[in-house]
Amino acid sequence: MTAAGVKLREATAMDAAQIADVHVEAWQATYPGLLPDRYLASLSPASQAERWREAIARGRRGEVLVATAEGSGVIGFVNWGETRGRKAPQPAEIYAIYVAPDWQDQGIGRDLLKAAFEEMAAAGYGGALLWVLASNPARFFYEAMGGTAVGSRRERFAGTELEETAYAWPDLFTWLSAWR
Ligand SMILES: CC(C)(COP(=O)(O)OP(=O)(O)OC[C@H]1O[C@@H](n2cnc3c(N)ncnc32)[C@H](O)[C@@H]1OP(=O)(O)O)[C@@H](O)C(=O)NCCC(=O)NCCS
Repeated sequence: MTAAGVKLREATAMDAAQIADVHVEAWQATYPGLLPDRYLASLSPASQAERWREAIARGRRGEVLVATAEGSGVIGFVNWGETRGRKAPQPAEIYAIYVAPDWQDQGIGRDLLKAAFEEMAAAGYGGALLWVLASNPARFFYEAMGGTAVGSRRERFAGTELEETAYAWPDLFTWLSAWR
C-alpha cells in the first residue's frame, strides 16, 4: 500500500525542476560502482530540469507522471513512450522510473508503474518493456511486478560498457485486471 498522503498525477512543466532533483538524487544514490563516479558527480539538476521540461512539452498526455507528498513536492516519477530502437514485440517502453531514496519501499514505485501501464493501455498499447542495468537491484522490483526478463544488450554509456536486461509485460490488460 502506498504511503499515506502520496498522490499521483500527470506532470506539468512546473514539476520539471523537482523531477530533475529526484532524478539526480536517485542516480547518485543508486549507481556508484555501476556508473563512473566522475559522470555521477557531473550530473546537474539544472540541465536535467531543462531536459525534463522538453520531455513534458514533447510527450503526449500521461507520458510523465509524478508522485507527490504534502510538504515534499515531487518524490517520484515515471516516464514512458513508444518503444525506442530496434523493433520489439512490446510497443511501449518505460524510459525511466525513480523514487527518491527516502521514499523507497513504500509502494510508490508499484503505484507509478501501474499508473503508467494504465496510461499505456488507455492509449491502446497492449505490451510494455524496459531496460535496466543488469547489476541494478531494481531488476528484482520488476520481477516482483510480474515482469519477465526477455533479452540483454551491451551499451556504451558515459565512457563505459554496460550490460542491460530487458523486462517485458506482454499483456498489460491481463496484468492490470490481475493487479486491480
Ligand atoms: C526501483 C524503484 C523504482 C522501486 O520503487 P519502490 O517505491 O522502492 O518499490 P515498491 O515499494 O513499490 O516495491 C514494490 C515491490 O517490489 C519489491 N522491491 C522493490 N525494490 C526491490 C529490490 N531492489 N529488490 C527486491 N524487491 C524489491 C518490494 O519489496 C515490493 O514487494 P511486495 O509487493 O512483495 O511488498 C525505486 O526503489 C528506485 O527508484 N530505485 C532507485 C533507482 C532505480 O534503480 N530505478 C530504476 C532504474 S531502471
